[in-house]
Formats: sequence, structure tokens, C-alpha cells
Amino acid sequence: MVTGVTWELHLLLLMGLGLRTHETLPPPCESQIYCHGELLHQVQMAKLYQDDKQFVDMSLSTAPDQVLGNFSKLAVIYNHSIPRQQLQEFVQQYFQPVGQELQPWTPEDWKDSPQFLQKISDAKLRVWAEQLHHIWKKLGKKMKPEVRSHPERFSLIYSEHPFIVPGGRFVEFYYWDSYWVMEGLLLSEMASTVKGMLQNFLELVKTYGHIPNGGRVYYLQRSQPPLLTLMMDRYVTHTNDTTFLRENIDTLAMELDFWTVNRTISVSSGGQSYKLNHYYVPYGGPRPESYSKDAELADPLPEGDREALWAELKAGTESGWDFSSRWLVGGPNPDLLSSIRTSKLVPVDLNAFLCQAEELMSKFYSILGNDAQATTYRNLRAQRLAAMEAILWDEQKGAWFDYDWQNRKKNVEFYPSNLTPLWAGCFSNPDVADKALKYLEDSKILTYQYGIPTSLQKTGQQWDFPNAWAPLQDLVIRGLARSASPGTQEVAFQLAQNWIITNFDVYSQKSAMYEKYDVSNGAHPGGGGEYEVQEGFGWTNGVALLLLDYYGDRLTSGTQMALLGPHCLVVALLFNLLAW
Ligand SMILES: *[C@@H]1O[C@H](CO)[C@@H](O)[C@H](O)[C@H]1NC(C)=O
Ligand SMILES: *[C@@H]1O[C@H](CO)[C@@H](O)[C@H](O)[C@H]1NC(C)=O
Ligand SMILES: *[C@@H]1O[C@H](CO)[C@@H](O)[C@H](O)[C@H]1NC(C)=O
Ligand SMILES: *[C@@H]1O[C@H](CO)[C@@H](O)[C@H](O)[C@H]1NC(C)=O
Repeated sequence: MVTGVTWELHLLLLMGLGLRTHETLPPPCESQIYCHGELLHQVQMAKLYQDDKQFVDMSLSTAPDQVLGNFSKLAVIYNHSIPRQQLQEFVQQYFQPVGQELQPWTPEDWKDSPQFLQKISDAKLRVWAEQLHHIWKKLGKKMKPEVRSHPERFSLIYSEHPFIVPGGRFVEFYYWDSYWVMEGLLLSEMASTVKGMLQNFLELVKTYGHIPNGGRVYYLQRSQPPLLTLMMDRYVTHTNDTTFLRENIDTLAMELDFWTVNRTISVSSGGQSYKLNHYYVPYGGPRPESYSKDAELADPLPEGDREALWAELKAGTESGWDFSSRWLVGGPNPDLLSSIRTSKLVPVDLNAFLCQAEELMSKFYSILGNDAQATTYRNLRAQRLAAMEAILWDEQKGAWFDYDWQNRKKNVEFYPSNLTPLWAGCFSNPDVADKALKYLEDSKILTYQYGIPTSLQKTGQQWDFPNAWAPLQDLVIRGLARSASPGTQEVAFQLAQNWIITNFDVYSQKSAMYEKYDVSNGAHPGGGGEYEVQEGFGWTNGVALLLLDYYGDRLTSGTQMALLGPHCLVVALLFNLLAW
């Protein structure tokens, strides 16, 4: 263990200079069972389970010191090389099967026939939307009282209020997923479920100073794209619950401070210095939930370089894009995950989300009558806007790009996240939506008729081609829909139509909604990455409901209506002319 003093020294070094080799980083949490130590190492490296996440999700049958004590004995008996059979028996004796700490929960505010269903004119889509509305009942979870009375026996972090999970292997909450889940829940008129989830998040901020990636101790030191303030905005807009806002505004500010204090980077351009944010997780060791994979990935590296790799992998999970060519760019071998350098990039989406959060905080403080704070956040947003225009915006290409601050250049590859500022309303010139349309056209993105791919690079990572993810469709669609020009709005609608058909067709065949879709050749569940594609699925359902609500009068369940081929821009121009 490192002492407090050297710890701070490490942090200072890390913050100033980025990760250097030969550093020992603190573990992702204190637990010697779930986060670091010999027990975790031996069990995960023996690969007792197909998915490493399974072991760290198992709860203890007895107190952790008894488990550790008996494990030490076993380790001594076998001279620290315990045979698989004995390990398996040990785990069976001291651990419970997964999923026992959560119980199914039917949301109390769930009701038949929420109003938005009536806005969907296509009968088949309306029936389907109703089925999606039913799925909330399957994704509802509540923690058993034991998690509260004996937190040391669980990797699950106790939350008081029940919540909606993504589904599949993800039976705990996830931070950024919850934003799109909440959008869907609000359409389903389930505002009190949303309020409970918000209360859980606010409680985490009060306890830890930030929101962990997900509801497990091994996720503690990494966050995820910061959408808490946006969640609060959607809830308050829906309910007018300004009392709740007033009670929690300080906690929202505390969460944004975490991003300022722990995730800021200075970038200079044209003789000026700007402050922007990046993903950065200076904690060591393999990720407990993907332990053997991370250990094996680091194996060929010199020992002194391993901690830096593991920290960059954790930063990749903090981005929500785990993993993607976005974080491999500029590395020694951009096809290999071991080239990951997440913290060396200034991501467009992260800064756009924070930009919107700052705008909303300014609005919230105005509502609450605190003009001084309203001005503070208005100024923060203005500074960020200037920084994003100087560092991330590319006038010639008509889009924003992640900035590699180490190599001092933009990553000009296509990612839907490049258009997040549109979605977040984080721009000063209203022409950008139409420029973005031309950018999509130039990048040949509109030729993909089953959904917008995550990138055009096929790395085998799940946040790359040919996968398409629901939240990324939303970012582009609602971004373009902000345009004043009817042609651009029409393309937004077509993209929504494409995505709805993909979701609907796959649902018709498989009776399931998926975490991601493969859009390279027809509509299929996605693949790639570190685990099998998961059914459920919280944010996919949320986005489908959003689009069904937004375009309910026009969407059809029929075959692909119009191809957004190379003529799209002509069609768009025509629409704009007609609008004149
Ligand atoms: C080992 O486990 C047994 C039974 O669970 C318990 O009684 C004992 O105290 C444990 N030993 C140690 C050293 O923790
Ligand atoms: C235990 O393992 C170590 C290292 O693998 C080895 O050097 C030592 O001889 C072993 N001790 C016994 C008693 O087998
Ligand atoms: C919230 O307040 C606005 C403006 O006062 C009003 O138009 C709206 O109907 C209210 N919504 C709810 C859910 O009470
Ligand atoms: C954020 O930074 C502060 C100050 O350096 C530090 O005490 C804290 O542990 C950091 N939080 C995380 C989650 O790393």
C-alpha cells in the first residue's frame, strides 16, 4: 500500500504530466476481494467463469476477513498456486451465486396505456411501443435489505430506491444508460421511478463526490459521461418539481466540480490556452470485471508500462465507449487494444454534455433566484463554447472532432459523437446543423439504411463498425432536428425511420430488444468486443420510445421507405427551396 503523502504526490505528477511509466497506482477500491489482491487474481486467472464479471458479482457467504483468512491458508497449502478444482470448491463454499442481492421490482407508477401511445398512428408500431412499455416491469430491480445491513459482503453498492437496469449481464444501474432510460420512463409517465433513480445518483455524489460508472464497488473510481444535470432537467421539465431541484442543486454543482477538479486538461492553440475535459482514471490493476483479459493484454508489455495501460482501459470505460478506435488513434498500433490512450484525447461528446450541463445550471439558478450563480455558469459555458470552437470545431469539414492533445491534432475519422454539440445546443452559429448534414453526406454515412454506424473502422471493438447504438442515433437525429431548415429536419426523420425499422424488424424476429445492432448487412443484433450481445435493453427501449413519440404521426412499420443515398442532399435542398 502507498502512504497518503506519496499518494498525493502521485496524483500531482499524474495530473500535470499524464501517466508515466513505473508508477504504482492505487487500486480501484479498497476491497481485497472485489478490487485487488491474491484471491481476485487466482480466481480470475483460473477463468472459472466464461465472463470475469460473474465472479466479482457474487456476494460473500460470510464476513470478508473469514473468507480472506481461509483463502490465505489454502494459498499456503498449495504454495500460492491453487489447483482449479480447489479454487472452484473454495468459491462455492464462500460465495453465493450471482443475482441474489437484487429482487425483481414492478414499478409502482407503471400503468396501462400511457398517453403517448395514442400519438403513434401506425397500428403495428403502436402495439410494439406498448410491448416496450411493458418491458420496464422486467427491468425493474430493488435491493434486498442485506445489502444495506452487510455492505461488506457485496460488490453491489447499496441504493435505497428501486431502479431500471439495462438488462442481460448488466443487472446493476449504469450512469449514462440511465439518461435514455429516464427519457423513456417519462414518456411512460413513470416520473416517480425517475425521481427515485435521481435520488440514488444524488446520494452517490454526496458519498463519493461523483457518480461511479455503475453500481458496483469495482466501478467506484471511474465515472461515465456526465448526464446527471440533464436527467434533472428532463425530470423537472416533466413534473415542475422545483422543490426537488432546490433541495439538490448543490449536489448537481458538486458533481460538475468533480469534472472540473479531476478531469480538466489545458490545451493551447493560437497562443491562447483553453480548459477542456477528458476521461482520465489514474487507478491501477486490471479491471476486476475483465481481469484476465486485461492481465493478458498487458502480459507482453514491460512491467513498468502495465499500470498505464490499465489506467487507459479504465478511462475507456469511463467514456462509455469501451472500446473504440476513438481511443486507439495515434497509438503505436491503432488496431490493437494495447495502443489505448483515452486520456490523451479531448472528446467532443464529453465537452458537449458538460456545455449543456453548464447551460442548465445557469437556468436552474435563475429559476431558484440565485443570479450570481446563474452568471457563473453562463460564463463557464461561454468559455467552453469558445474552447470548443477553437480546438474541436473544423470549419472546412463542418463538424467537431476529438483533439489529440499529445500529438496536437484532430482525429478526423467519422463518429456520431462528432455531432454531439448539435444535440446539446452547444454552438453559437445556427448554420452548423446544415453543415453537419453536408458532413454526414461527405462521410457517406447516409448510405447506411439500417442505422448510423458507430464508425467506419472495423476493429472488432464493439464501439466501431458495423455496430450501431441507440444513444448515438439520438445524438444525430435530435441534433439535426434542431435545424431551422426543413430539408435537414427531413433527413433527421429518415434516420429515425431507418432506426425504428431496424429495432422493429429484429424485435419481430427475436421478440427482444438489443444493446446494439449490426447495420452492415440488414438488421441484426450486434457483436464484437468483450462479451456476448445483451438483451433488454434499457437505453435502446428509451430511444425507440423517444423517436416513436417525436415522429409518431409519420413513422411506419413497413419496409425501408426511402434510401438516404447520394441524392439526399439534393432532396434536402429541394425541401429547403419548397420551404421558401
Ligand atoms: C474459515 O471458515 C470457517 C467457517 O466459515 C470459520 O469458522 C473460520 O473462522 C474461518 N477461518 C478463518 C481463519 O477465518
Ligand atoms: C513455492 O513456490 C516457489 C516459487 O514458485 C518456489 O521457489 C518454492 O520452492 C516453492 N516451495 C515449496 C515448498 O514447494
Ligand atoms: C408545469 O408548469 C407549466 C408552466 O407553469 C405548465 O404549463 C405545465 O402544464 C406544468 N406541468 C405540469 C406537469 O404540471
Ligand atoms: C479527485 O481529486 C481529488 C483532489 O486531488 C482527490 O482527492 C480525489 O480522490 C479525486 N477523485 C477521484 C475519484 O479520483
